[in-house]
Amino acid sequence: GVTNENSHPHCDPTCKISIVHNGIIENYFEIKQRLMDAGNKFTSETDSEVIAHLISENFDGDLLATVRRVLPMLRGTYGLIVMHSDFPDLIIGARNGSPLVLGIGNEEMFLASDVIAFGPYVQKIVYLNDGEIIKIDQNDFSVTNVQRATIKKETQDLESDVADISKNGFEHFMLKEIYEQPESIKRGLAGRINFAEYTGKLGGLNMRDAELDAIKSVVIVASGTSYYAGSVGARMISDMARIPTSTEMASELIAKNIIVSPDTLYFVVSQSGETADTLFAMRELKRKGARVLGICNAVGSTIARESDGGVYIHSGPEIAVASTKAFTSQITAFAILALIMGRGRGMSIADGDRLIKYLAAIPNAVEHILTLDKLICNIAKKYSSCKNFLFMGRGICHPVAMEGALKLKEISYIHAEAVAAGELKHGVIALVNPDTPSLFLVPDDELRGKNISSMKEVHARGGKIIVVTDIDDPEINAIADDVIIVPKTDRELTPFTFVVPMQLFAYHMANILGREIDQPRNLAKSVTVE
Ligand code: AGP
Repeated sequence: GVTNENSHPHCDPTCKISIVHNGIIENYFEIKQRLMDAGNKFTSETDSEVIAHLISENFDGDLLATVRRVLPMLRGTYGLIVMHSDFPDLIIGARNGSPLVLGIGNEEMFLASDVIAFGPYVQKIVYLNDGEIIKIDQNDFSVTNVQRATIKKETQDLESDVADISKNGFEHFMLKEIYEQPESIKRGLAGRINFAEYTGKLGGLNMRDAELDAIKSVVIVASGTSYYAGSVGARMISDMARIPTSTEMASELIAKNIIVSPDTLYFVVSQSGETADTLFAMRELKRKGARVLGICNAVGSTIARESDGGVYIHSGPEIAVASTKAFTSQITAFAILALIMGRGRGMSIADGDRLIKYLAAIPNAVEHILTLDKLICNIAKKYSSCKNFLFMGRGICHPVAMEGALKLKEISYIHAEAVAAGELKHGVIALVNPDTPSLFLVPDDELRGKNISSMKEVHARGGKIIVVTDIDDPEINAIADDVIIVPKTDRELTPFTFVVPMQLFAYHMANILGREIDQPRNLAKSVTVE
């Protein structure tokens, strides 16, 4: 439960030892049972509290040595900080599976799970790796491991944009981040187009052209919004480079015995670079011999460091729990990848040229969509009493519909279900009624006719229809209750222009309903537990 008793720090029975723990202790129950049998009293329902009790039970006057002895008794994951009130100038930290980073400021040091927490107080950082223990005293810090070996750590500069975190006049970080997209997409494209050869360039892949050309299939692994961005990326790579590409949810990949093939290139996608499911899936793939590249936003994050190379999406710090600009930056990276892989195979100069021109025009297209904000807000007002929504898209717009539904769910708490529009008639149509609006994504492509047929099925059953489209089409206008027209782009790039109206729709819906937009209930920005 979300209670004061369950909040950190947790203490030992003497209240001298305090701990803060991020992660899950899998064997807490047996430890707690034994300690309770020995007379210990617990004040919280957490697994974390057993750590303080265990340290207390084993304490011999040397906090570092005690923590080092206790860690092997814990099964699970931790980013852990320990203090003892008899040693006020000493902090011990330890990491296993959950992030921990040291921030060094002006005569002060901090430990956190994410550099974003440091704000303007820190200039240098040191990332800890799994199995490492840090001791901080008044003057310095030192890092060792459980076997007592000293580990020399590199100090890095903290990126300046991490220190500069403000809402910049916007009511919420989410809205600010939606509005940052023209710039963040531009940053993701900067220096990554090779105009002379009608292709892209991504320095961090650590792969020679010949190695890229030898790839026979691609698998993209991620969670949540990053998974939907990966699903868009999979379509881009399959369509443009003609390489069979599939996606795996990270949590599902860990749940099965995945077959790794040497000709397959694996990508893990993560805004934070710390999502436990994605990180563990990456480690499992690497253990099986796969080459795994990362597509990350957070520079220096665990996934970025442990992957075999990859791409930084440069969208800047994303603070709102609901991911927006990271999604468009992730698909920017995938568009460039698909261009590189496509040009290495059968993609013509003309197709490469067309794609580059449309890609370069995306920031302006998004800028235009932001001018539709008022219209989208009014549409949200009209539907704000609805309790259920259907989101429908086909082809590359199907994962975009899923992302739109996720946005609405996580910040407005309205139930939304995304459906591949062609699947509607196979069951979901039973849900259509006048109180359940359907939001259709209808680009002007070869699937338009089929999408209009699905709209007609909903219309005939009294369902209200909101359409995002890139064409002023009398047939669409006749059936739809509300239409949002976005600028036209290349068929493969429609996810950029179709996702932004849905981000704004979810934002306004949540705002109208008075929700905690930047920190929705039950959610965390980085999900560092499995
Ligand atoms: C996005 O709006 C969500 N908060 C969530 O689905 C998120 O995308 C997911 O947890 C993955 O995070 P990551 O990109 O940092 O790995």
